[in-house]
Amino acid sequence: MEAKIIRILLIEDNPADAFLLQQTLRDAEWATFEFTHTERLSSGLQLLKTNPFDVILCDLGLPDSSGMETVRQLHLKAPGLPIFVLTGLADEALGASAVQEGAQDYLVKGQTDSTSLARAMRYAIERKRAENERDRFFTLSLDMLCIATTTGYFKRLNPAFEKALGYKSEELMAKPFIDFVHPDDRAKTLGQIKQLNEGQTTVKFENRYLCKDGSIKWLSWTASPFLQEGLVYAVARDITENKQHEQGIRTSLEEKELLLKEIHHRVKNNLQVISSLLQLQAGYIKEPEFRAMFAESQDRIKSMALIHEKLYQSRDLARIDFGEYIRSLVRMITRSYPTKGGVRVTVTSDPILLNIDTGVPVGLILNELLSNAFKHAFPQDRSGDVHVVLENKKELGYRLIIKDDGIGLPTDFVLNSTNSLGLRLVKILTDQINATLEFESVSGAEFRLTFREVKV
Ligand SMILES: Nc1ncnc2c1ncn2[C@@H]1O[C@H](COP(=O)(O)OP(=O)(O)OP(=O)(O)O)[C@@H](O)[C@H]1O
Ligand SMILES: [Mg+2]
Repeated sequence: MEAKIIRILLIEDNPADAFLLQQTLRDAEWATFEFTHTERLSSGLQLLKTNPFDVILCDLGLPDSSGMETVRQLHLKAPGLPIFVLTGLADEALGASAVQEGAQDYLVKGQTDSTSLARAMRYAIERKRAENERDRFFTLSLDMLCIATTTGYFKRLNPAFEKALGYKSEELMAKPFIDFVHPDDRAKTLGQIKQLNEGQTTVKFENRYLCKDGSIKWLSWTASPFLQEGLVYAVARDITENKQHEQGIRTSLEEKELLLKEIHHRVKNNLQVISSLLQLQAGYIKEPEFRAMFAESQDRIKSMALIHEKLYQSRDLARIDFGEYIRSLVRMITRSYPTKGGVRVTVTSDPILLNIDTGVPVGLILNELLSNAFKHAFPQDRSGDVHVVLENKKELGYRLIIKDDGIGLPTDFVLNSTNSLGLRLVKILTDQINATLEFESVSGAEFRLTFREVKV
């Protein structure tokens, strides 16, 4: 198998050491080492800009740099490359801090033979490759990933942060991150930090950050504390567009609600105008029979207008509390029959919401049946009771019962063959909503309408 080519940047100001090193690695089997040698850190950093390398080998003490600064500079410039410190200083603590600064290994000159140096390099290249792979999660993620201290400072930020907020990482790490939070969100953000410090995680916490250009970004946070090291690992997602989208939807929803309210209001008003027109017209009618017909038509229109009035008042503009509607309709119809003072109407209702396509026909049916009770059940100012019951029969649907304890239906009463308008209307509307209507006449009349909400 052909030996691999490993391109080494060797930064070593002592030419003898540099030569010795190149000799040492010449015999390695698994690779051929190609050296680029320079004596100063600055020229090494320059070379890194223009040439691809696989490994950096550097001495700590250079004419233009010494100690950890050398490693820090190289790691900053080439975070993806394994750095080997090769120095005359046999100092383990220094070695440890070199590794903390990003070096892969710290080898002491004269204490490392070619085999172990070549092996250490091979392992370091593999380790670095795996590390880079993991690191790309951090650097390439579109989400904003960061490590922060529990004291409120960013410790490490991925490029997505800079992109989203417009600040350099150094700027973001230089002051407490709460300073970048929108003033109105600082209190709740501090609340979250407190919870993290108590070991709780943060899930989908939303707050606003102030960007460098003065704009505001909405961020959704998920964070986990790692208290043993006083750290917090957090992911933020820029949800500004969603928020704007949500706001847009909310505004257009509010507009639509306003419009719908307006429509119901106008329909209600127009129906009332029609009812008033009928009232006016009725004023010119002499025959009480015909006047009564006009009055009933008015009630029919009013029962529809009432649906729109209730819809206009309802929270979701789509459904009305039908029990409440029944009570208003009863009050309205009772007013239409002032002479029937002895008739008491009670209303019992399960909590049921109905849409307009069900409310209007059922409201009209109720209007007919209730007017009939007033008109026909208690002749000669007889007093009595009318019970209106609305039940939720679950699988069977809803049931509306109008029961009076009046004189009862005529003996020859046949629902399907009445030729009077009232019950014909009831029949038509019942069929229209696929409902069933039952009646009986035992100690008064009882009508039971079983229906389901009309699907629109
Ligand atoms: N609750 C009731 N108690 C007694 N009789 C009733 C009752 N409801 C209806 N009826 C009888 O059924 C008949 C038909 O009722 P329907 O509502 O169709 O006509 P109407 O009330 O007489 O006139 P309109 O067409 O104006 O409603 C009534 O004339 C009445 O005799
Ligand atoms: Mg009638």
